[in-house]
Amino acid sequence: MSTGARRRYGLATRLLLAQVVVLLASLLTAGLVALLLGPSLFHAHVLQVRPVWDPAELEHIEQGFRDASFVALSAGLLISLACAVGVTWWLTRGMQRTLDALTTAAAEVSRGHLSARVASAGGGAELDTLAGAFNLMAGQLEQTEATRRRLLSDLAHELRTPISTIQLCCEGLSDGVLQWDEGTERILTEHTARLARLAGDIDEVSRAEEGRLELNLAPVRAKDLVSSAVQRQADAFARAGVRLTGEYGSAGDAIVQVDADRLGQVMDNVLRNAVRHTPPGGTVVVSAARAGEEVHLIVTDSGDGIPAEHLGHVFERFYRGDTARDRDHGGSGIGLTISRAIADAHGGSLTASSAGPGHGSTFTLRLPLLTRQHSLREEGASPS
Ligand SMILES: Nc1ncnc2c1ncn2[C@@H]1O[C@H](COP(=O)(O)OP(=O)(O)O)[C@@H](O)[C@H]1O
Ligand SMILES: [Mg+2]
Repeated sequence: MSTGARRRYGLATRLLLAQVVVLLASLLTAGLVALLLGPSLFHAHVLQVRPVWDPAELEHIEQGFRDASFVALSAGLLISLACAVGVTWWLTRGMQRTLDALTTAAAEVSRGHLSARVASAGGGAELDTLAGAFNLMAGQLEQTEATRRRLLSDLAHELRTPISTIQLCCEGLSDGVLQWDEGTERILTEHTARLARLAGDIDEVSRAEEGRLELNLAPVRAKDLVSSAVQRQADAFARAGVRLTGEYGSAGDAIVQVDADRLGQVMDNVLRNAVRHTPPGGTVVVSAARAGEEVHLIVTDSGDGIPAEHLGHVFERFYRGDTARDRDHGGSGIGLTISRAIADAHGGSLTASSAGPGHGSTFTLRLPLLTRQHSLREEGASPS
């Protein structure tokens, strides 16, 4: 059958045609055999019973044999045809339903309706697998599309405030309603800086999430990570009146293979959040601990805490707790997203926990421990 014909006829028609061809071939063979051998065999048998027959009687008996053969073959053909139609219908019904559903769903998806799914219609294991694979693909497309939409609308939302402030400021200046003084300069600088930071953050987060972060890995002791983070943030904490301490005990000597700058960025993010959410007089502790094949760097604050319903969201892009402090301090809600991506890129993780509002929060950065052999191999491999 040519490709064009195959396309014109459906699966059921082609299956039925194939069965009819097989059927006709068998019937033709049976008919030919019956026609060529049947009468002479029958004749021989009849003569074995009685050698001499009245010719009219013999003709009648032989006519009976021919009629019986014809009826048997015809009935056989009809019954076989009915069976072929029935079997074809039964076999292709489920297949056709699943294939139709797949075609409709694929057309829906191509029109942008990504919620289209295929229900299993009993077309056999292979078709069910195909329908499952299609549903998986559609689900992933839908998720990607939802993330893209959310990202764009979050981005538009984030851009709106600084842009409209700058716009109002420029209009005020050109209308003469505003004078160029320290105040206007501060507003313009603050909001352009916010736009610049946002652009930088977005670039960073997309690189981090796509795994395009370049890491300059080197063995570092846990205590160095703790003490350098504490040192960098000491002034900011002193200004805020929050006590910052670093503790490491024996875990301080554990070695991790990290990009010290990137990890510093994570610790800075977490500590800046902690100081922002801890009232004066509060404390923030950075500690290191060993847990199996991991080193945990733990930042615990005695501040605001995080409500259970927000805990799952703090690592999402652009997510900010709805407090005046979060909105006014100009963070774009990306700090923790980048921090988690950096932790993941190191083969570690970053998680948050809190006993609830008013009970402080704990952020735990888990990093795989550098094993002794690994560390020796690395040291041996690096040029001296
Ligand atoms: N130590 C903390 N205590 C309470 N809430 C926190 C703390 N750290 C982070 N959060 C919450 O997580 C949100 C997201 O943090 P982040 O991604 O760093 O964004 P940003 O600092 O720009 O607000 C913050 O807006 C805040 O609501
Ligand atoms: Mg932050």
